[in-house]
Amino acid sequence: MTIGTGSKFLDALDGVTQKVPPVWLMRQAGRYLPEYREIRATAPSFLDFCYNPKLASEATLQPIRRFGFDAAILFSDILVVPDALGQTVSFEAGEGPRLDPIETRAQFEALHRELDYSRLGAVLETVRLTRAALPAEVALIGFCGAPWTVATYMIAGRGTRDQEPTRRFAYEHPDIFADLIQRLVDASTNYLLRQIEAGVQAVQIFDSWSGVLPVTEFERWCLAPVKAIAANVRKASPGARIIAFPRGAGSYLPRFTSEDGFSGLGLDTAVDPDWAAKQLSRRLALQGNLDPIALLAGGRGLDEGVERIMQAFEGRPHIFNLGHGILPPTPIAHVERMLSRIRR
Ligand code: CP3
Repeated sequence: MTIGTGSKFLDALDGVTQKVPPVWLMRQAGRYLPEYREIRATAPSFLDFCYNPKLASEATLQPIRRFGFDAAILFSDILVVPDALGQTVSFEAGEGPRLDPIETRAQFEALHRELDYSRLGAVLETVRLTRAALPAEVALIGFCGAPWTVATYMIAGRGTRDQEPTRRFAYEHPDIFADLIQRLVDASTNYLLRQIEAGVQAVQIFDSWSGVLPVTEFERWCLAPVKAIAANVRKASPGARIIAFPRGAGSYLPRFTSEDGFSGLGLDTAVDPDWAAKQLSRRLALQGNLDPIALLAGGRGLDEGVERIMQAFEGRPHIFNLGHGILPPTPIAHVERMLSRIRR
């Protein structure tokens, strides 16, 4: 008799406890894989690569073929959203993203009201190609950046250590900033719904920079917008499975609940898994949270880190993952070792 969805990953999001948890890794497609570096070299720029459905679909499938992860994550980037809103976005080799920063009301008003799917449509084609190529038991995850995290790049024009330019902008120009966040809520809702329509079975909202704000600003710029996206997506697509990943949210984590429309909550490296297993609702699948540096280093630290997490989340819905993305110099043998410890 078959119960559940046929996918360990989707079952976990539906609340099923499993002896061996499903596993995938944030940034599982990418530079630590020689086969990725090989196909990446065939595209002139990173954005060209993201907008090429054949290449992006191949990059999505590579870690599944090599490691047999339980879920694939769409290969794209969170910054295709500002690109499709008309902001100039580029990726400088070895330096990270560069955008024309938004500093005035006029620059905000120059953005499109809605996403331009003449470019972004390629990502939806990647979803269709990938879903058709994946084994049935491997789930396909779509994603977007949370409005706050995407806004930090749109305002500063680049990645920053502590997001100071955007924090300052939000205090000095709360009206423009609120309008920008609302534009991103609407765009992200629409984008996630189009991904679901094209074949993704769950979506993750990456709030990589949510860990720098005082509580009032966290509520206003991180929590409320991500909850609004979840509510809007669930309204149009009632069964949608949504994972929030508010990196660095720490003591704010209990504010994310299943009643808000989340099925899963991603935990970063600094969250105590024993605390999380006790304090966070059993109606949320908890995802995480091995230290990417432990995976990079290997050896006993890796084995102990895996064991710690397996024990803490035993007997409740859990998805094994890292606390943040896999690092490019990570040896493939360490990923294999991690998998053999989880699946033994
Ligand atoms: O395997 C996967 O996870 C799928 C693809 C994916 C990428 N970026 C590919 C990528 C996903 C889910 C992202 C999300 C993303 N992008 C986030 C949120 C998650 C996180 O890591 O915090 C953020 C903040 C970005 C923005 C971004 N994209 C930065 C800051 C950079 C440069 C830094 C870096 O790692 O190079 C990117 C580029 C990027 N996105 C690469 C990849 C594989 C590297 C570029 C290349 O391969 O040439």
